[in-house]
Amino acid sequence: MTAIVAFDQDCRSRNCYDLDSVRADFPILSRTVYDKPLRFLDNGASAQKPRAVIDAIKNSYTSEYANVHRGAHFLSGAATEAYEGVREKVASLLNASSPDTIVFTKNVTEAINLVAFSWAETFLDAGDEIVITEMEHHANIVPWQILKERKGLILRIAPVEDDGRFDLDRFAAILNDHTKLVSVPHVSNVLGTVVPIAEVTRLAKEKGACVLIDGAQGIVHQAVDVQALGCDFYAFTGHKLYGPTGIGVLYGKTERLVSMPPWQGGGDMIETVSFNGSVYAEPPMRFEAGTPPFVQAIGLGAAIDYVQGIGIDAIDAHEQYLRDYAFDALRDVPDVRLIGEDPTKAAIMSFIVDGIHSMDVGAVLDRQGLAVRVGHHCAQPLMARMGVEATVRASMALYNTTEEIDALAAGIRHAQKLLG
Ligand code: ALA
Repeated sequence: MTAIVAFDQDCRSRNCYDLDSVRADFPILSRTVYDKPLRFLDNGASAQKPRAVIDAIKNSYTSEYANVHRGAHFLSGAATEAYEGVREKVASLLNASSPDTIVFTKNVTEAINLVAFSWAETFLDAGDEIVITEMEHHANIVPWQILKERKGLILRIAPVEDDGRFDLDRFAAILNDHTKLVSVPHVSNVLGTVVPIAEVTRLAKEKGACVLIDGAQGIVHQAVDVQALGCDFYAFTGHKLYGPTGIGVLYGKTERLVSMPPWQGGGDMIETVSFNGSVYAEPPMRFEAGTPPFVQAIGLGAAIDYVQGIGIDAIDAHEQYLRDYAFDALRDVPDVRLIGEDPTKAAIMSFIVDGIHSMDVGAVLDRQGLAVRVGHHCAQPLMARMGVEATVRASMALYNTTEEIDALAAGIRHAQKLLG
């Protein structure tokens, strides 16, 4: 782990951390692409991994590997302890009341599908309303559409403003006595807009609705306290939080989880099985059928230790600095239109360049060593709402620098010279 210092070049006036030292923790950041230094600005899709995470995974396979919850032998015990230890770590990260409120999933998509096809399938009836927003990722749209078709539910869409802001009054106006579920992103993966999830939860609770927060882009940038929020479910994924792929989390309030039937059957999620029927395990095991991704969970545990070692508030401060810097840098480039201009947003900058297709901008940036995402970002309805087909998206992480943002602005100017 790196030593935390009071100030650094990028965070002169903030209580920040030693950026060079943090960057050295991520082996991939020292590589080149096309003989250019890698400038990785695609963290919204997946973040890079610090050595601590890579080592934890390697250690699991080399020294502590055996299936969890099954063996009476030493290694199975060690792996089980490590896996269940991460459940405790996640509960503490979210300030959840108990590790039993933490269900491991594959990713946020699976976590949302679990809520849809266990809780919502069981408790929602024809005419009940689900509220989502215009800024959803497809993962928080399609499961509800499937369920809507099956059960005759009504899907209501809370609007987003032209500049990407979330208007609480317009959201509140959609709620009514039929609202049974409100499912919103913590942070938009395209706009960077931070949804006021505490107020959203309070308003939803006034109507007696259940609240699910898609935290895929949220917990990466901000501390989360599920008890203070009062939400029923909060989902996040390991690979955007500097952990491995294949591991996600669904936090669920105890009273919700105990009321929910299993959604997948198999080993590990039962107490007893006979041909006359099965007795299901209590949560969280009820929702973890089959061998779980325990090595990935161990990697997630190392990632949580890593970000907590730096401090989520310090990471947030650094990323806010990068966001402000990026606003200035990108507004300075002619013919760049930002999509999502909420000044308090997360450091996720989507934009289009007038007269040049986003794919072409991305291709030119790529040759400069700049990794950005280009396309609809799994948010086609939001693209339609903002009147664009695709954007270029630069999404920052704890290790990004102002120099990389300068390189991004220079790369866009280069694309304009080549293609404009
Ligand atoms: N949901 C991820 C993104 O926004 C993949 O890029």
